[in-house]
Amino acid sequence: MKRKISLILFFVAIYNFAISQDFATITQILNNTTEYQGKEFKYSAYVKVDKKSEGSGHLWFRVDKLDSKPGFFENMENTPIKDSEWKKYEIKGKIDSNVKVIYFGCFLLGQGKLWFDEVKIEIKNSNGEWKPYEVKNSGFEEIMNAYAIDWSANNEDYFYIIDSISPYQGKYSMHIESKPEELMILPLYVKDGALINLPKPKLTGTVSVETALFLRRSIREYEKDSITLQDVSQMLWAAYGVTDSTTYYGINLRTAPSAGACFPLEIYLAAGKVKGLKSGFYKYNPITNTLKLLIDGDIRPQLSKAAYKQSFIKEAPASIVWTAIFEKTTKKYKSRGRERYVCMDLGHSGENVYLQAESLNFGTCAVAAFDDNEIIKLFDLPKEEEPLYIMPFGKLTKAELEKRKEKLK
Ligand SMILES: Cc1cc2nc3c(=O)[nH]c(=O)nc-3n(C[C@H](O)[C@H](O)[C@H](O)COP(=O)(O)O)c2cc1C
Repeated sequence: MKRKISLILFFVAIYNFAISQDFATITQILNNTTEYQGKEFKYSAYVKVDKKSEGSGHLWFRVDKLDSKPGFFENMENTPIKDSEWKKYEIKGKIDSNVKVIYFGCFLLGQGKLWFDEVKIEIKNSNGEWKPYEVKNSGFEEIMNAYAIDWSANNEDYFYIIDSISPYQGKYSMHIESKPEELMILPLYVKDGALINLPKPKLTGTVSVETALFLRRSIREYEKDSITLQDVSQMLWAAYGVTDSTTYYGINLRTAPSAGACFPLEIYLAAGKVKGLKSGFYKYNPITNTLKLLIDGDIRPQLSKAAYKQSFIKEAPASIVWTAIFEKTTKKYKSRGRERYVCMDLGHSGENVYLQAESLNFGTCAVAAFDDNEIIKLFDLPKEEEPLYIMPFGKLTKAELEKRKEKLK
């Protein structure tokens, strides 16, 4: 018998990849931590991974200090579990004396199937003896409404199943399995898609340019909340909005400079969680300040997949996507246009988006690691356009806001 658990979405950093892969974790939180201050611990569990899995299994243990900085973090990055037989794995360490919260669990990194059972934590007392800490529902035997009590999951693209087929011990084990790609929707290309008028961008904000520069970071985790059409309008405007009605040889000048005012960039929006905007893929027209629907439906999972499964792309409420018509610049500057100017233009536009994000208390991250052909195919891009950048964005998490407050002190 297989039972699916209902999914409680839970977010905590379990990886520090510059390029993060998709992962699914099952986690438990320990909030009353005073008795563990400064103590040594051993965290262990039984894990196995399906033979055919591309992905790997990892135990992880994380201690957050009172100042929200990490006090201990281990996720078996260098010793991934690939074995298809049940085996015990262990993480050892010392809990920081300023411990606030302890998180522990197991995750499947990438695609495949993983089983997790018999979770144990031992703490060394002052006499040097190892004493067990009561892990709640340590063997996944307590189930309510098909949900493993006391454990939380993080990713809707995976199944979390209470599995009775091959538990290590007892009746059940936790089984994490990536959903097959067939479950992803096929893009629905729209011919004469709706035209959406964007709200006017604001020309004042509460964050100075200097503060925005000081705070700017690449952020790969966002609040789950939806963002507004006003936010989207502001971000798109920052990328390439028209800022001067006086034209340069008939071209409207923009928020970003462009070599020879060729403006070779084309800007798109992949929207998933924008209030008042249907999920879909849109083309931004900076001159009319409008969006035109090109693909109906949430395309974020496919976009993430085309970007080597960088999972924050599908978790962000929306992403700006840049392409370039190189010809617009090369007809004036020949090879220098291709080798230098177009990407310089892109850099200016991307940095504008980073700074605008700071001013909205948003996070964003430049992404250039993707499969060009997959993006071209997915968006059915015109022949002359080449994809260059993706910048997912969304509200900063509470932890990230705290970090910023601290940094500004
Ligand atoms: C051209 C370019 C491509 C990048 N591609 C990716 C990417 O594909 N995935 C990612 O997570 N970060 C990507 N980044 C973000 C860098 O990892 C990040 O800027 C760098 O680690 C410095 O951190 P900071 O932006 O917070 O200062 C890219 C940045 C640039 C400028």
